[in-house]
Amino acid sequence: MVSPSLSLATLLFVQASRVAAQVSLPSPPWLPPSPSFGANPSSGDSIPNPHWSTLLGNGLFFYEAQRSGRLPDTNRVSWRNDSCTNDGQDVNLDLSGGYYDAGNFIKATLPLSFSIMQICWGAIDHGSGYDLSNQTAYLDDMLRWSLGWLMEAHPSPNTLFVQIGTGAADDAYWGGDRGIPQNRPSYQVNDTNPGTDVAAMTAAAFASCSALYSGRSFKSYSSPASLQNNSYASTLLQHAQQLYSFAVNARGGQMTYQTSVPIVQDSYPSSGYGDDLTLAALWLGLAQNDSALITQAQDYFNQFQLGSQLPDSVFNWDSSLPGIPILGTQIYQSYPQLGGNGWQSQAEAYLDRIVSGKGAGKLTKGGLLYYTASSSLATLNPAINAAMLLRRYAAIATSNDKQNAYLKFSKGQTDYLLGNNPMSVPYVVGMNPNSPHNPHSALASGGNDISNINTSPPAEAYVLYGGVVGGPDQRDRYYDIRDDWPQTEIAIDYNAPLLTLAAMNVMNDTADPFYTSLQAGAYDSKKPSGHPCDPVYSCSPSLSSGGKIAIAVVVTVVGLGIIGGIVYLVLRSRRPKEPSAPQYKERI
Ligand SMILES: *[C@@H]1O[C@H](CO)[C@@H](O)[C@H](O)[C@H]1NC(C)=O
Ligand SMILES: *[C@@H]1O[C@H](CO)[C@@H](O)[C@H](O)[C@H]1NC(C)=O
Ligand SMILES: *[C@@H]1O[C@H](CO)[C@@H](O)[C@H](O)[C@H]1NC(C)=O
Ligand SMILES: *[C@@H]1O[C@H](CO)[C@@H](O)[C@H](O)[C@H]1NC(C)=O
Ligand SMILES: *[C@@H]1O[C@H](CO)[C@@H](O)[C@H](O)[C@H]1NC(C)=O
Ligand SMILES: *[C@@H]1O[C@H](CO)[C@@H](O)[C@H](O)[C@H]1NC(C)=O
Repeated sequence: MVSPSLSLATLLFVQASRVAAQVSLPSPPWLPPSPSFGANPSSGDSIPNPHWSTLLGNGLFFYEAQRSGRLPDTNRVSWRNDSCTNDGQDVNLDLSGGYYDAGNFIKATLPLSFSIMQICWGAIDHGSGYDLSNQTAYLDDMLRWSLGWLMEAHPSPNTLFVQIGTGAADDAYWGGDRGIPQNRPSYQVNDTNPGTDVAAMTAAAFASCSALYSGRSFKSYSSPASLQNNSYASTLLQHAQQLYSFAVNARGGQMTYQTSVPIVQDSYPSSGYGDDLTLAALWLGLAQNDSALITQAQDYFNQFQLGSQLPDSVFNWDSSLPGIPILGTQIYQSYPQLGGNGWQSQAEAYLDRIVSGKGAGKLTKGGLLYYTASSSLATLNPAINAAMLLRRYAAIATSNDKQNAYLKFSKGQTDYLLGNNPMSVPYVVGMNPNSPHNPHSALASGGNDISNINTSPPAEAYVLYGGVVGGPDQRDRYYDIRDDWPQTEIAIDYNAPLLTLAAMNVMNDTADPFYTSLQAGAYDSKKPSGHPCDPVYSCSPSLSSGGKIAIAVVVTVVGLGIIGGIVYLVLRSRRPKEPSAPQYKERI
């Protein structure tokens, strides 16, 4: 029998590879203040402004509420419990940990990797925002929780786990973290059945975070968040290199991951992999200081004809394309010896098109950037990502006019997000009394009755601080209905750009975020009557209360046999596929 001290040592070792925050977490812990804090304007004369610091802190806190697995002693979310601790047992691995992707319970590697890549990018070029607001320890904790899980999901050079659990099981369960159905298969890509997109994006996540932990910075930007740790950076780099090589050289060839793992089609199918390969090559080139990879990125960009897809693309987990010329410009300006000149004009053409309104993105009446092809199932995400990219790029714009136009547009979208909109809602949970009260989150809702998500319980049990919701509809209307996932669902990728935007404002803005100026009860007086018109709530005027009435009607008329299918369609509460603007299918 193993001696108790030895098994404890082993346990500690395992834990260490997973979390081991290097920056010790504050004691007592930092916790979100009550939403009423966001109704009290500050004196508006200090950096960091306390409200922007709080927004950054809450944005990180949101990720802690989404954690899966055995929670550490430092867990700050009092209402969360250990959950799904057996994930990976079906493949003899410990794939517990990581994050639930959104309002339900699958774990999905592609949107997680995209989110981590974004967060490490923001911590490289706006890292002072984390330092100034004393959030760097929580950033480190969040990144290590994510990267630790991604390492477990990458148990050998050419194997990557891409999804845990199924959408169908998710659709059938609504409830807390103690009752999650434990039939959660682990799905992988490997040498014979690869997934170029997910392998490349996970390589990009590891490489960008390796660059952060090795202290890389960009000219014209702040220093990175104070996290330098060369041994951790080299561990991350090794995973990045293996995954990139797997993406490029898998014996099975290059293909989207749903070709190998059809079940991801129900959750996060990908529309292509040329963008992922290009972005991975750029990050890896920076992280390992290798000009050949920067050249390779340019070759991919041409080979996959990404230039012609760029102008009307949005930036999201399925479409990283707009990030490419922006990152390329940052790398070229800061590390000219790596080569890669020529991205800047592409970056500016892309951003000019957004601010001039000549592209696919148009402003709604209330002022939200809206893309017909990509915004309908989560209106805020493309807009916040654009705001974040515009402000990032403004620092290196080639003229004052461009810089001013990018900053102005970015501020308009940020203000909209934070309450300057026709509903007077700051679309981040728990920031202000007018924030959404009914985010679509099975965990936070406290309910377990899948046929009465909206009313059971009447008030959401827990405040999901810091969560960005899907957003209002194209007419700027927001209904705050719990089962209406296009408007009210939260997700790990929705929050990623919020962190960088908040860090930018922490660094630069003495003025408060817009929401401190909102009147008490502003949303209640503007809340639209009726119900939304989207995939959950029928647009038909004859139906007074949406999906469930529709079920009742159909069931009565057609009979019970059809219940399964309808319940599946109407209550599918996991996030659906998000269409990405142009479908840039690769031509090989
Ligand atoms: C650097 O990271 C490693 C690996 O996670 C960790 O063991 C070590 O404590 C960290 N070093 C410092 C100085 O924080
Ligand atoms: C950060 O910590 C320092 C030192 O404890 C403290 O003086 C400062 O007020 C804190 N800043 C914020 C924004 O919490
Ligand atoms: C965690 O467990 C407690 C005690 O059983 C329960 O009240 C709470 O709702 C659980 N949290 C979630 C998110 O299910
Ligand atoms: C490789 O991945 C495919 C698709 O997920 C899977 O069916 C197959 O079992 C995997 N191969 C091995 C050796 O695990
Ligand atoms: C990158 O490589 C160049 C030349 O190959 C070298 O001068 C530079 O010091 C290296 N930078 C880092 C951070 O390793
Ligand atoms: C912060 O302000 C400086 C000086 O006005 C400007 O150059 C920089 O681009 C700003 N940074 C951000 C993130 O807004």
